[in-house]
Amino acid sequence: LDNGLMKTPPMGWLAWERFRCDIDCDHDPKNCISENLFIDMADRLSEDGWKELGYIYVNIDDCWSAKERDEQGRLQADPKRFPGGIPKLVQYMHDRGLKLGIYGDMGTYTCGGYPGTPLDKIEIDAQTFAKWGVDMLKLDGCYSNVTVQEQGYPLMSKALNATGRHIGYSCSWPAYQGGLPPKVNYTQLGKICNLWRNYGDIQDSWDSVLKIVDWFFGNQDVLIPAAGPGRWNDPDMLIVGDFGLSIDQSRAQMALWAIMAAPLFMSNDLRTISSGARSILQNKMAISINQDALGIQGRRILKEKSGIEVFQRPLSNNASSLVFFSRRNDMPYRYQSSLSKLNYTAGSYKVYDVFSDTAVTLKDSTDFVLSVNPTGVVMWYVSAPAKPSLHQFYKTGKFQ
Ligand code: DGJ
Repeated sequence: LDNGLMKTPPMGWLAWERFRCDIDCDHDPKNCISENLFIDMADRLSEDGWKELGYIYVNIDDCWSAKERDEQGRLQADPKRFPGGIPKLVQYMHDRGLKLGIYGDMGTYTCGGYPGTPLDKIEIDAQTFAKWGVDMLKLDGCYSNVTVQEQGYPLMSKALNATGRHIGYSCSWPAYQGGLPPKVNYTQLGKICNLWRNYGDIQDSWDSVLKIVDWFFGNQDVLIPAAGPGRWNDPDMLIVGDFGLSIDQSRAQMALWAIMAAPLFMSNDLRTISSGARSILQNKMAISINQDALGIQGRRILKEKSGIEVFQRPLSNNASSLVFFSRRNDMPYRYQSSLSKLNYTAGSYKVYDVFSDTAVTLKDSTDFVLSVNPTGVVMWYVSAPAKPSLHQFYKTGKFQ
């Protein structure tokens, strides 16, 4: 969507995967969906080095609203759990250089059973969100049907635009249509939404991450052209820092989400996150690969019989990123290859290892061996090849 927003994939925090629809503030005050939870996360984002790295959205998901609209037909936050209303949270975020995202549903109810946004409420809800000052809307698709979705998702895009406020627009539409053409029209989506969920919900497990990875790379030929600045495929939240992933699996999720040019919305508890998980999510080189200005979604280029898979994303300045991923479950696998075998042109390349923070110079023809942990990755940033110099030519009679 060409609204000037999200030229690179949006980054931030989203409540759903970790905190779901916990509304029991009497017994679980620290974890229930309430203004305190979002204030706590905003504090962590702004005080623990996240904001500076680009994690600026604090996004509310389902179960935030009251069960009824107000007398004027407007959505309203649950008065007990959000006593200051959404405007108070917006103010809190904006005061800290953060942004607030809210959640709605293109149907009669949200998936959690709260008021949805049927067709005749689209305008008033867009106006309400804009008046509150929210910065992003995720529009879910429970309790709707094909016709309602076909009308509703484009209408909400128009209604948000008509408010005059810049509001990032995340559409769950394709996830409710099976994610693939001919049902899904990615050209249209790119015009009306900034990002979209294509596939099912992530859960806190490695199985779930693998399922998502398989679907997105299995359908890469359809999905890659859909993505670009202002329009992103969304494989769902980062679960790094939760309970389901080992350190190697956490690196794998971060690396593959960076290759996919995926939105980076963490759904974890930033108050108690381990330093290991934090350093993966705060890895500057992984983030800069994810945020590359060209906005080209990467692809899987090799599936070896050994269970090693190689992924590549083209980056600005003729650089690229490579990820070597192991589906094995025995022991670290020694993978041998060379840049020329991976289709790199002749030359000498500077290669940075993203997670070990080391660099080497590698000629295209030189064989390398790297050790990839079970269910883990090795991730590289590969700079543009150094131009063969005339000096080198006169010395050797060859350009390499
Ligand atoms: C389904 C969505 O895909 C999830 O991300 C989450 O928003 C839930 N609905 C909320 O009910």
